[in-house]
Amino acid sequence: MLMVGRKLLRLYLLIIYYLMNEFLKSVLLKLSRLQRKGTIRLLLVCFLLKLLSIERRMQEKLSIHGAWSSRWVFIMAATGSAVGLGNIWKFPYITGENGGGAFVLVYLICILLVGIPIMVSEVLIGRRGRQSPINSMKDLAVESGLSRKWSLAGWMGAIAGVMIFSFYSIVAGWVLYYVAGMANGEFIDIGSEMAGKKFEALLADAQTLLIWHTVFVLMVMIVVAGGVNKGLERATRIMMPALFVLLFVLLGYSMTSGAFGQGFDFLFHFDPSELTWNSVLVALGHSFFTLSLGMGSIMAYGSYMPKKSSIGGTVVMIALLDTLVALVAGLAIFPIVFANQLDPGAGPGLMFITLPVAFGQMPGGQIFGFLFFVLIAVAAWTSAISLMEPAVAWMVEKFGIKRLPACTALGFLVWALGIACLGSFNFMSDLKIGSMTFFDLMDFATANVMLPLGGLFIAIFAGWKIKQSVLKDELSMQNHFWFSAWYVAIRFIAPVAVAAIFALNLYNKFTV
Ligand code: PFF
Repeated sequence: MLMVGRKLLRLYLLIIYYLMNEFLKSVLLKLSRLQRKGTIRLLLVCFLLKLLSIERRMQEKLSIHGAWSSRWVFIMAATGSAVGLGNIWKFPYITGENGGGAFVLVYLICILLVGIPIMVSEVLIGRRGRQSPINSMKDLAVESGLSRKWSLAGWMGAIAGVMIFSFYSIVAGWVLYYVAGMANGEFIDIGSEMAGKKFEALLADAQTLLIWHTVFVLMVMIVVAGGVNKGLERATRIMMPALFVLLFVLLGYSMTSGAFGQGFDFLFHFDPSELTWNSVLVALGHSFFTLSLGMGSIMAYGSYMPKKSSIGGTVVMIALLDTLVALVAGLAIFPIVFANQLDPGAGPGLMFITLPVAFGQMPGGQIFGFLFFVLIAVAAWTSAISLMEPAVAWMVEKFGIKRLPACTALGFLVWALGIACLGSFNFMSDLKIGSMTFFDLMDFATANVMLPLGGLFIAIFAGWKIKQSVLKDELSMQNHFWFSAWYVAIRFIAPVAVAAIFALNLYNKFTV
């Protein structure tokens, strides 16, 4: 469709060019020969330049929502989306629950063979479509002569974004509570037992959870309503480097004060006997979650990416930064866990118990602890913004409304859904679906089912359905080897790995 439109426009411009030429010739006949020649030449040059600029703008088609001011801003924004609670909160605790090193290795393999190729595809689709993921998928499908139903993958992503937000916001609310607690000095000299009790008391207190959940939803919605450029771009530019600095400060602390060797060993010691098929699924799901894949966040961000930037190198950089943060967070947290005889498999509360213990004893810990929780909150905040972007962008396109009403409607929805999630820790703790609370269900259904499934559709779409000429045009990879490597991964490795792990888990669920 896009291609046909472009060809028609070019033809139309050429006809106008011809007619204008004839018209000018007849008018200019009245001038002297020399004057005539000069004027015609000048007019033709002007007209040609105009044609070229229209053509260039068509090629550089931009999103109506805005565009990142440079490739670096895109890297920072996408890293802001990727680096979040998934790295600092979730990765250490699921690694703890799944036995450590073997899990980490599977996770790294998933990032390399599945995550990176799918991220390339998402950026490619977004940049080509220049719209919300739902509409970009639809347009690209039509461009390649496929059914519009491919936009359903975009739909599933937008719904997954709302679902993830509902539990993400509860955890971000815990972080905000700890920011306030650190500022008040509540954790000075706190022992691990006391820290555990404090965390349990927070979970039991629905009212406090609701307050912080509401604050977080408002924080996110205000920025999303303001547009991607002003709020997000500015915030990530300042906060991402600061996050990296503080993470390394904490790493320095745990290297000197924690049982570093034991923590390191736990993360990197490979023992295949600890691996189950379920933990492979968790590793795969987490590789999607941590890179913000399978639901259109990166696709939406890709639609604001400058045309000139290379997609491959940019994506590798984002994935490396994200993995680095997860590993450093693990190296910062586990030594403290072991030094304080805590349980590495403690679950979601792991970070909220270990970090206050560490900061409570550290010289200047009140300030560092405060700053660290502020930065985790910011990491969560920049990620949550990207969770909302696909749905908000779609509402703006579909209903022609401004961002504010779109954000208000969606904000209310995620806020209400979040209440059911926070209830899982107190007033709704008895409600179990299977063996899961509502909070667990939202986490499981999105990270372990919807994101991998979304990723599978994206891999099939990019690897098997989009025309190769479109892929090559958009990726513009000079190096043939990298294109081939990506193409093999997206056609064969990623879809087969996701489908196989899915099938094995379903089989296990029904037979065990
Ligand atoms: N990648 C984020 C994290 O690791 O915390 C979470 C996330 C954001 C998941 C955006 C999915 C998404 F689309």
